[in-house]
Amino acid sequence: MNTQVLDKTQVNTAAEILKKGGVVGIPTETVYGLAADALNGEAVAKIFRAKGRPMDNPLIVHIADFGDIERFRLVKEIPESAKKLAKAFWPGPLTMIMKRTEVIPREVSAGLDTVAVRFPAHPLAQEIIRAADTPLAAPSANLSGSPSPTTARHVLNDMDGKIDAVLDGGMSEVGVESTVITLAADVPRVLRPGGVTVEQLREVLGEVEVDDAVLHQLKEGVTAASPGMKYKHYAPKANVLLLKGSDEQYISYVNAHAGDDVCALCCDEDLLLLRVKTLSLGRRTDYLTQAHHLFDCLRRIDENPTVHTVYSRLPSTEGVGLAVYNRLIRAAGFEVIDLEAV
Ligand code: TXA
Ligand code: MG
Repeated sequence: MNTQVLDKTQVNTAAEILKKGGVVGIPTETVYGLAADALNGEAVAKIFRAKGRPMDNPLIVHIADFGDIERFRLVKEIPESAKKLAKAFWPGPLTMIMKRTEVIPREVSAGLDTVAVRFPAHPLAQEIIRAADTPLAAPSANLSGSPSPTTARHVLNDMDGKIDAVLDGGMSEVGVESTVITLAADVPRVLRPGGVTVEQLREVLGEVEVDDAVLHQLKEGVTAASPGMKYKHYAPKANVLLLKGSDEQYISYVNAHAGDDVCALCCDEDLLLLRVKTLSLGRRTDYLTQAHHLFDCLRRIDENPTVHTVYSRLPSTEGVGLAVYNRLIRAAGFEVIDLEAV
């Protein structure tokens, strides 16, 4: 298959492909998505094949207006909490899980009785959904297990020849995927942290739980509330190790383990002190910038085949830092070295 590269003037071409049951890489403000008509099960199945995604991992349905939830009868009932969250954060990097109707194909819901819905803020994502005149199912547009794509180039690196087209809408602003919250439980619960922070959600809803799988590896035999959280994820080919300790301990540990095959995924403040190859995510407490650069940095590591070991600091769990933490700890396969103990 020849993958067409479209620009922002070709929204209608993208929409025509989608209407015919094709698959298109689309820009969103979080990461690029691999989109297909969410109401067409056969079209959605193509997404799973292109990504090599396990069929038990459900997809997010993207809309371009709050009214689309009722218009397409996506959910049984819109909870009050969803209305409040939509008012505060939509369009934007928040995905809400609600009880689904029978309209949702089984490929999208992966056998669950719920559906995840998001109204993205990227103007081109909205234009494509409106022009296709249907909700779009879209996971991140990477090969399953790889870092999510934040540019059209990243999408092509993983998907060239496997999908009909990719529409180039520039670099994704947020850089990590949306926050996923379930409203189908008694108490709203965050299943995946992202651009909307737990602190912001609590301001609107009051009580909000954070699922155990956000910070920890799931214990053997425990069912994942969000199936995507059980897989090793976001991992470059090199071995990522997370170091827990002070700034000084991090610098001296990395310098003591210096070598041609070592790279430090660090902060701006560390750059002049480290004696190995470096990639900086941004300033130490600028979590938004760190999120924006995270996946691009993880992909760059793979562009340098001599790098075998990556030392990263364990990030803060404050604000959007929690999303960075959640992705890095998975990229590291939950391997953390406690520098107090070495
Ligand atoms: O920012 C984003 O959310 C991007 C862009 C393209 O919108 N999409 C994205 O999709 O990250 P994906 O498929 O890579 O991640 C969706 C996550 C997965 O962990 C999946 O298991 C979970 O959401 N999910 C989807 N539907 C669900 C449901 N009904 N119940 C529980 N978890 C669900
Ligand atoms: Mg993904």
